[in-house]
Amino acid sequence: MNEIKIYKGLIETWRKFLPVSKKTPVISLCEGNTPLIRAYNLERKISKDIELYVKYEGMNPTGSFKDRGMTMAISKAKEEGSKAVICASTGNTSASAAAYATRAGMKCVVILPAGKIALGKLTQALMHGATVLAVDGNFDDALNVVKEISAKYPITLVNSINPYRIEGQKTGAFEICENFVPDFHAIPVGNAGNITAYWKGYKEFKAAGRIKRTPVMLGFQAEGSAPIVRGYPIDKPETLATAIRIGNPASWKQAEAARDESKGLIDMVSDDEIVAAYKLIAGTEGVYCEPASAASIAGVIKLSGQKYFSKRAGSKKLKVVCILTGHGLKDPDRAIKVSKTPITVKPNLKELMKHISL
Ligand SMILES: Cc1ncc(COP(=O)(O)O)c(C=O)c1O
Repeated sequence: MNEIKIYKGLIETWRKFLPVSKKTPVISLCEGNTPLIRAYNLERKISKDIELYVKYEGMNPTGSFKDRGMTMAISKAKEEGSKAVICASTGNTSASAAAYATRAGMKCVVILPAGKIALGKLTQALMHGATVLAVDGNFDDALNVVKEISAKYPITLVNSINPYRIEGQKTGAFEICENFVPDFHAIPVGNAGNITAYWKGYKEFKAAGRIKRTPVMLGFQAEGSAPIVRGYPIDKPETLATAIRIGNPASWKQAEAARDESKGLIDMVSDDEIVAAYKLIAGTEGVYCEPASAASIAGVIKLSGQKYFSKRAGSKKLKVVCILTGHGLKDPDRAIKVSKTPITVKPNLKELMKHISL
């Protein structure tokens, strides 16, 4: 009987670009293969010089791009005989680590900055059975203690300093390039693993002869958490985009390399700009992402206002891809805060029609 062909996740799809062998147990939830959506309505509002695309990473199994790295990190941890994994997290890493560890039959410990995690993400880690501990500190404090624990005890660290995370995450670049090579790649930057991974992916695809050129990398941090832009670590990072509330990124140097090698930039956007972009993408395109993800859109809007794209445009429009790193449903509190609360009305036609404009 013919086996039905179903998508098997990114390790099986991109095996020859990944450090896996026949011996590697593939722990997958069919991550990757996420939609690349042209944002026609939004691009009309932003600039006549660009075609704007969003890579909707919120459509991964746990709702963020972290699944790309986690399928690799957990598969390799399993191959190496590890029984438990640990991570520090602003939320999405913990959700992903907990899901993949559970699937692999491994224990998962997550350390979170107390009170700074979007509710949706916390529920994921809890529901997948992780041991969840909150520390009285920020993400950077959590990462430091997690590094110490994993150095002293038999538990594998699955933050993006684990090289297998970067390997998995680079596959996002391959997927984009199967459609076209963007002129510009816009991405939010927190711990800086993802910008590192995408740049690695583009370079490897070029080295393999699959593409002829690589995009210019545009990274965006939140104004209150912008160590790379400012050039020094931020002791008390602040932003409502909790996923990128990071003051001392682990992959700082690699992010600078991606910026410099691609002749790109890393800039910052304010919380107001992030919220405006967050509402705009949801309200004009029907694509719901979390606030941190909208930093990429906010950044493109900011650059467009500075004529960055029009100065570089030729006869053809420039292709810009924004990575929407996580799903909007992860952070319903923020959505409620920035939206109008529904009013309660008597259940009759006349009353309701007073509030409906057609
Ligand atoms: C939704 C979201 N966007 C962006 C980032 C930043 O990615 P990185 O830490 O790899 O720079 C994160 C990291 O947690 C995230 O969860």
